[in-house]
Amino acid sequence: MTDAADDGGGEAISALLHETRQFPAPEAFAKQANAQPGIYEEASADPEAWWAAQAENLTWDRHWDKVLEWDLPFAKWFVGGRINAAYNCVDRHVEAGRGDKVAFHWVGEPEGDNRTITYSDLKDMVCKAANGLVELGVKAGDRIAIYMPMIPEAVVAMLACARLGAPHSVIFGGFSSEALSGRILDSDCRVVITADGGYRRGAASALKPNVDEALERCPDVRSVLVVRRTHQDVAWTEGRDIWWHELVDRQPPEHEAQSFDAEQPLYIMYTSGTTAKPKGILHTTGGYLVHTSTTHRLVFDLKPETDIFWTAADIGWVTGHSYIVYGPLANCATSVMYEGTPDAGGRDRWWKIVEDYKVSILYTAPTTIRTLMKWGEEFPESHDLSSLRLLGSVGEPINPEAWMWYRKYVGRDNCPIVDTWWQTETGGIMISPLPGITATKPGAAMKPLPGIGAAVVDNDGNEVGDGEGGYLVLTDPWPGMLRGIWGDPERYRETYWSRFPGYYFAGDGAKKDEDGDLWLLGRVDDVMNISGHRISTTEIEHALVGHPSVAEAAVVGASDPTTGQAIVAFVTVKGDVVAVGEEGEALVVALREQVAITIGPIAKPRQILLTPELPKTRSGKIMRRLLRDVAEHRELGDVTTLMDPTIVQMLDDQMNAPGAADEA
Ligand code: WTA
Repeated sequence: MTDAADDGGGEAISALLHETRQFPAPEAFAKQANAQPGIYEEASADPEAWWAAQAENLTWDRHWDKVLEWDLPFAKWFVGGRINAAYNCVDRHVEAGRGDKVAFHWVGEPEGDNRTITYSDLKDMVCKAANGLVELGVKAGDRIAIYMPMIPEAVVAMLACARLGAPHSVIFGGFSSEALSGRILDSDCRVVITADGGYRRGAASALKPNVDEALERCPDVRSVLVVRRTHQDVAWTEGRDIWWHELVDRQPPEHEAQSFDAEQPLYIMYTSGTTAKPKGILHTTGGYLVHTSTTHRLVFDLKPETDIFWTAADIGWVTGHSYIVYGPLANCATSVMYEGTPDAGGRDRWWKIVEDYKVSILYTAPTTIRTLMKWGEEFPESHDLSSLRLLGSVGEPINPEAWMWYRKYVGRDNCPIVDTWWQTETGGIMISPLPGITATKPGAAMKPLPGIGAAVVDNDGNEVGDGEGGYLVLTDPWPGMLRGIWGDPERYRETYWSRFPGYYFAGDGAKKDEDGDLWLLGRVDDVMNISGHRISTTEIEHALVGHPSVAEAAVVGASDPTTGQAIVAFVTVKGDVVAVGEEGEALVVALREQVAITIGPIAKPRQILLTPELPKTRSGKIMRRLLRDVAEHRELGDVTTLMDPTIVQMLDDQMNAPGAADEA
């Protein structure tokens, strides 16, 4: 824990807690809702039995003997059960006569580039891909890296891996080759599935060259399966690279799914922690599927026969895994999957998609809502959005203004909003209103879901009272919980289970309001949240000091009206480096590029300040608290413990000087 813990944006917090508006669920919605009053009591009377009842909605090859085996902090759910995730997401729906139901309305970024994929189509595609992977020698337990754009083959690749019991590790397409190779090496992936490129903001961007570069550092990768998406020219390594269409298209569309132990690893998802090295969060099969399908049904009130569900996220993040792929497919939902950015083809692109496909449930991140809000309500107003009946938010605290705008201009004042708190580690939603039951408040995630235990505790681990703040902890094991950090059980215990003995430490600050409802307040560790993307300050500092001119770097997250937080870096250069005038400007450009190369363009600092020194305490500790004050143009806090108080004053002047505008 760093000094970040004590200043989670005090003013914003008290503003939030003076929020008095409340929005009860519309009566008509409440009547037809999947979640009915009584569900909380029912679950809390016997949470294990409640989760077991939810698990009956899946198709098990062998029933479990025991619901939970809890050897803190190691959990096993549905012990002895056997299940296949892909069978549950695809085959069983076809066998039940729902093969003609649309699984995905896929919308490509270039207009008119659309595909409709039924559950039967999906079954054939997944079986063929699974057969293709078998031909490449893939066996249960092998790890497979997936580095793809938002195209149907990305989902097919994930399900083909799941079908074979081969855990996938999806790496967001915005990560650099260096980030990619680090992840491939950490989990020792031997096969990579990618594409020549993808469409982003109206242009074809390349993916394969990043893979080629990454694999120079990964000699054990033996096969690279490449989907042709953009028809760009790509370099080719004979014997290693193989076109998806050449391998997969000629496979038979039948493949018999074997069942696996409920605890068979399903996937690894890398996420930022407080060190420079990302953590490989491990999820397993049975409990994860139970958690994602149950929360998808209850939180989004899914009616599989009539709803059109759209999670506007990338499959490169956990939101895409749980609520584009596993939850919706296990529930036989019809989803929209969109490849591009919200403004591709015009600032009303999203609303056009909602209108064209009659989307009824929309799930997205506050950062996008704020961007849409900035563009203006004329865009949603120019389309018929009357199909929408429920709206969701995820990834960062949603400010009341954005919540109200979402409600008014997107939901036309009659859609419940579910603000869902969860993490890569939790696998699925943990804290959220239940539509039809909860009277919502703009900006509050409200209550732990049925079957979930959460609390807010003070520094000593004691639960705080209503109207007080502290740290969010999870008090009981849950089915979708991470089963560990890939290859590092000790780090798992240390990171999540040592801060408050017996409790899972989420790394988030939270407050309970006077009614005992929960407000999430952002991270209390070195993790920043940039447009809903988790990035650690340490990772960026590490990237910056990797540049030959840099002596030392300190990175802070400064609040930003659109992206939630923005990255601000303070850098000192080595003795002989000129860091002023044109040379200084060129260095700043080079440093931003350095971060893009090491991590990815999403991690580029908004601002880099070159400074002769960083503010340090007498014991040599960098005072990040003061750097945050500087970055947020706040009055400087207590500087008396500094070795040299003039440094921070100088930085403050530099930050506030004319021309110190943001570079991004
Ligand atoms: C933040 C994304 C406030 C939080 C699913 C958490 C939120 C981190 C919310 C996890 C929310 C997510 N309100 N904060 N509704 N949802 N967060 O792993 O800080 O990418 O710890 O998972 O996002 O980010 P991750």
